[in-house]
Amino acid sequence: MLTLPAPAKLNLFLHITGRRADGYHLLETLFQLLEYGDELTFNTEAGPGLRLTCSDPLLATDDNLVLRAARLLLPHVTVPAQCSIHLTKRIPAGGGLGGGSSDAATTLLALNRLWHCGLSLPALERLGLQLGADVPVFVHGHTAFAAGVGEELENQALPERWYVVLTPPCFVSTREIFCHPELTRNSPSTTMRAFPFSGSRNDCQAVSCQLYQPIRVALEWLGQYADARMTGTGSSVFASCADKEQAMTILSRLQSAQTSLPLSGHQGLAGCQAFVAKGINRSPLHRALGLPER
Ligand code: C5P
Repeated sequence: MLTLPAPAKLNLFLHITGRRADGYHLLETLFQLLEYGDELTFNTEAGPGLRLTCSDPLLATDDNLVLRAARLLLPHVTVPAQCSIHLTKRIPAGGGLGGGSSDAATTLLALNRLWHCGLSLPALERLGLQLGADVPVFVHGHTAFAAGVGEELENQALPERWYVVLTPPCFVSTREIFCHPELTRNSPSTTMRAFPFSGSRNDCQAVSCQLYQPIRVALEWLGQYADARMTGTGSSVFASCADKEQAMTILSRLQSAQTSLPLSGHQGLAGCQAFVAKGINRSPLHRALGLPER
């Protein structure tokens, strides 16, 4: 039995600098790992085959990224390829927080060890990229500046910040946002890898706000208290705070607004989930596996 974390991420900024011939977009983004996430338990002694259960049973489908990640390792196994996996879900799905990608990365690292595959971290990053552009950073295990489609990673050591994260009740299709004709695709390439929040932006935000009113509402509400920005293609939005207290104050204001919705005039916040988390440089997954610092 091995129980491991799968942290969430934020895109502190996300600039789209071009498009590849295959239609994928070239990005420059700052991935901030969070001390908040899902948890996976791997049991290789629960009988033959590969099985997934989940705290949200609707997510335990055959095409879940966890099972797809496990199957990518099958050509490399040197022991019987069996495992029962339980996923405890905390990161909202379809929220731009990298939940599914992080679950896949944790599965790759866990089963690489349990099945004695012997693949290096760079090899696992390349395998992970087949599942999605956000998977490599979670395999890599460090807050990083990313270029390419998200696979050219450069570690960053960011100062400690606390984040308030709001997830409006809408499932955003990444493909829909990237295919939108009005998406900004020609941002200039930046030379600043980890520059401060101001002066940067998320190029997907305008299109996501146009298509999903709850994202607009969440950004407007959060923007009253701090600089607010969307992560990934949405739906989640976040604000960066100097300390935990400031972040918790904003969170309790949200909870008060939600309990008095008709009075507060913020009906659009109904169903918005929220949490506070510390930004971390090193992935708790790498720490749990005792991997050397990179
Ligand atoms: O990486 P992920 O599987 O989440 O991407 C979903 C879709 O979003 C891709 O199939 C592609 O259409 C689009 N995409 C893109 N450029 C990226 C990442 C995703 O065009 N860098």
